[in-house]
Amino acid sequence: MPEDNRQTKNILITGAGGLLGPLLAARLLSDPQYRVLLTDVVEPAVPQRGTAASSPSSPYYPEHATTVRGDLTSPEFVGALVAHPAAQPRLHAAFLFHGVMSAAAEADPALSLRVNFDSVRLLADALRARHPGVRVIYASSLAVFGPPFPTTTTTTTTTTTTAATAPTTDGGGDNSDSGSGSNSGDGAVRRVKVPPSAWPPTPQSTYGAHKLMAEVYLNEAHRRGWLDVVIARLPTVSVRPGKPTGAASSFLSDMIREPMAGRECVVPLRDRCFRAFLASPATVVENLVRVLSWDGRRALALLPPHARQVLFPGIAVSIRELRDALARHGGEDKLRLIREVEDEGLERILRSWAEDFDIDESLRLGLAVDESADALVRQYVESLRA
Ligand SMILES: NC(=O)c1ccc[n+]([C@@H]2O[C@H](COP(=O)([O-])OP(=O)(O)OC[C@H]3O[C@@H](n4cnc5c(N)ncnc54)[C@H](O)[C@@H]3O)[C@@H](O)[C@H]2O)c1
Repeated sequence: MPEDNRQTKNILITGAGGLLGPLLAARLLSDPQYRVLLTDVVEPAVPQRGTAASSPSSPYYPEHATTVRGDLTSPEFVGALVAHPAAQPRLHAAFLFHGVMSAAAEADPALSLRVNFDSVRLLADALRARHPGVRVIYASSLAVFGPPFPTTTTTTTTTTTTAATAPTTDGGGDNSDSGSGSNSGDGAVRRVKVPPSAWPPTPQSTYGAHKLMAEVYLNEAHRRGWLDVVIARLPTVSVRPGKPTGAASSFLSDMIREPMAGRECVVPLRDRCFRAFLASPATVVENLVRVLSWDGRRALALLPPHARQVLFPGIAVSIRELRDALARHGGEDKLRLIREVEDEGLERILRSWAEDFDIDESLRLGLAVDESADALVRQYVESLRA
């Protein structure tokens, strides 16, 4: 395909040594208009053709990627990054993916503050100075929401907020397969079916608190006209390839990926009715690309200038549903590799997150959603056979 340099769009991706960075980069590298500048504190690799989110048969331009290693908590590095030749004459957009994940942030709040907030502030200021008005797409998280959860009653046509409930650390039972999955032992309900825009974020974890602080900083930068910000509040990404991570939610991928590789994994709670809000890597990348292409008039006009957050759609999935899908697509024998060992610390973080959200607002913005728990697992198992 002939190249048109007038159309060249330079995209910065931070956290490019993690999960989402390489998947998004692979997708962008199949389109000749994009140049990607990939950065991480570990040496980022240029993703290979056929990486999950890109098709093995589509055109691919790895020569359009530049990698640079550095620590985004360093003002010197951040200054050099925004002035990098691959970001000139201007950046079209910056995806902020770097970070310290939930369990690691809880264990080291000072590190989380430096990486999850201070570095975002540094980078936002540097982008504003060097690339004023640039689109910044920030990966936030549903961990910004916490108790008290608005509990709801749902009828066939309406959903009504009825009360706020206290948090719970109760496991809500053993690993039996009965129950709806939404009630924990003390009666608190984690199911939330109110529009996220109507629910004030009250994070109950260091990670969630620092993500929210970064959101506030970026919202203010947008309101002032310094940057063009969209905040993507991501569901837990599952099934995540690679290795277990420092996220409390890591087991939601580990329990599929590790048994499929013949390895044991640990699920840190014994309540198989526990549900989490999940999205596949492919759907998250698709939605990131859709946000990148939003123009100034349609979807963006729906977001107020001081509140740029968008809930990325997910589906509420129980541990039981993931186990059933693993047995169906990977084989019953894989279930023997899952050990259920309660971990009070992890469980406390996990139960501070809501398990379901109303995604109508997100769908109205034109974002995609996964089909089912079964489809999440099937896609992953099929990707291993491809
Ligand atoms: N994956 C999910 O389930 C999920 C869910 C909600 C939100 N998010 C958010 O989305 C973003 C991307 O997620 P991911 O799964 O790709 O994350 P990841 O943990 O796989 O990658 C994060 C990357 O940030 C890098 N990093 C850490 N400290 C750094 C520093 N000081 N300087 C430069 N780089 C540094 C790490 O080396 C790592 O490669 C994260 O910010 C995460 O908080 C992810």
